[in-house]
Amino acid sequence: MSFHPPMDYAPAKFHKSARHLPEDGREFVYTPENQARFDENVKRYPPDQRKSAILFALYLAQGQDGYLTAAAMRYVASQIGCSAAEVEDVVSYYTMFFTRPVGTYVLNVCRTLSCALRGAERVSREIADTLGIKPGETDASGTFTLVEVECLGACDRAPLVMVNDDWHECLKPEDVRRFLDELRARGPAVLTGCHLDKEKA
Ligand code: FES
Repeated sequence: MSFHPPMDYAPAKFHKSARHLPEDGREFVYTPENQARFDENVKRYPPDQRKSAILFALYLAQGQDGYLTAAAMRYVASQIGCSAAEVEDVVSYYTMFFTRPVGTYVLNVCRTLSCALRGAERVSREIADTLGIKPGETDASGTFTLVEVECLGACDRAPLVMVNDDWHECLKPEDVRRFLDELRARGPAVLTGCHLDKEKA
């Protein structure tokens, strides 16, 4: 018997490229602005440790197109000076990188112990039922993608949902529908993350 509730990962291995990327993608190059940001960032590392800039390089690439194609990964590899397989290893490890298009808002529901004990499974199910999708899928409007992830480092604010790069704390299952409606209508202004300086006294 496990403490952990049965929250299966998406069967399609949403994050995992599994060496079979969904599309090669059009030719990829950084915009001039992103190239300048990369060139500046990579200077922070010794020349023989350029691989340390892979995460930053991938964030820039994903920020341009919304997800990472094989062409984008090859480009990042050329910028870093490593193999495309090494870049793909990083992409397939971290849940914040996507290898297919995602919605405007990526709802990352934490499924680890603290959040699980406070109803994360029901939060995820409520989101899925409301949007008519399963974890790993995007709703028909292209607004929301549901992902289940491991601990996001805010266990005292469980159940935690990370929306793109920001937190929404203590989301109760019964509040999910209203939360989605408000997020759709008002955008990130509805998020409650403590880092957004919205904590109540
Ligand atoms: S267990 Fe959910 S944020 Fe840590």
